[in-house]
Amino acid sequence: MTRTPVMADNLPPLFVELLGDGYEVLPWDTSADSDSLRRAAAFITYSHPRVDGPLLDRAPNVKVVSNHGVGVDHIDVAAAVERNIPVGNTPGCLDGSTADMTFALILATARNIVIGDHYARSPEFTLYDPSLMIGKEVHGSTLGIVGLGRIGKQVARRACAFDMRVLYHNRRRDPAAEAEFNAEFRTLDDLLAESDFVALNCPLTEETTNLISTPQFEQMQRSAVLINMSRGAVVDTDALYVALSTGRIAAAGIDVTQPEPLPREHPLLKLRNLVLTPHLGSASDRTRRCMIEMSIENLRAGLAGQPLPYRVG
Ligand code: DGY
Repeated sequence: MTRTPVMADNLPPLFVELLGDGYEVLPWDTSADSDSLRRAAAFITYSHPRVDGPLLDRAPNVKVVSNHGVGVDHIDVAAAVERNIPVGNTPGCLDGSTADMTFALILATARNIVIGDHYARSPEFTLYDPSLMIGKEVHGSTLGIVGLGRIGKQVARRACAFDMRVLYHNRRRDPAAEAEFNAEFRTLDDLLAESDFVALNCPLTEETTNLISTPQFEQMQRSAVLINMSRGAVVDTDALYVALSTGRIAAAGIDVTQPEPLPREHPLLKLRNLVLTPHLGSASDRTRRCMIEMSIENLRAGLAGQPLPYRVG
């Protein structure tokens, strides 16, 4: 049987199993004399390697780029479209799990889950002390969602169950969402000033790069918590360190960083008011399987010259 060569990075066993025998998975190799680039009929971008025009020009047989994940900021989609190469992604199926994780970070930062866990295991915990690690109330507080798209709406739905007041900032107002979640539209500055928790659920674009930097931290309450579930570059990393280390804001729950990962000696890693996770937004069992299945559907359609079921651009 002839197997279709596809260049992919770091595919886990489940992906390879679901792909089946019809494919030869070539290593992600962008070196000057790459055999993978010369032969590949498709790219699968699993851990988000960079794909741009010059790379596509060195891969003359590529018919489709299938991305595992909804965010495609690592792919120059315009360059692919110019070359008639469709780009697929996996929208929708990860909204619930990413919203769950947004809430995991809200709860972890508000209620000292991580430092509490370390303390409860340590020899220092010898007596129940009711004055210890008093956190912030989550229910009944105000959540500002930046980016009320598919994921942001799932966050808003969960916020309603926590009896939170929901503010949102988007490029456009969304009257249906306002009605469904009793959400109130705000300018970014007003949202930052009024929110107890600010959740970033927007995509990374030119417009959102460094959206949250020193002037924005200055707008926030000193007691506020920043949650970033979008992309690291939406937040200015240096400004985040200053805001957390000087008490300009109370805490942050961050799933994504710029760069990712942070250098191991980065000062942010030493802060106790930061809860950090390694890009786990959609990392749950059912969601990961669904993302793999959608990536494979896009791959097959692109290779067959058919419209991609989930196409970007
Ligand atoms: C996404 O979908 O973009 C997440 O970051 C997981 O890849």
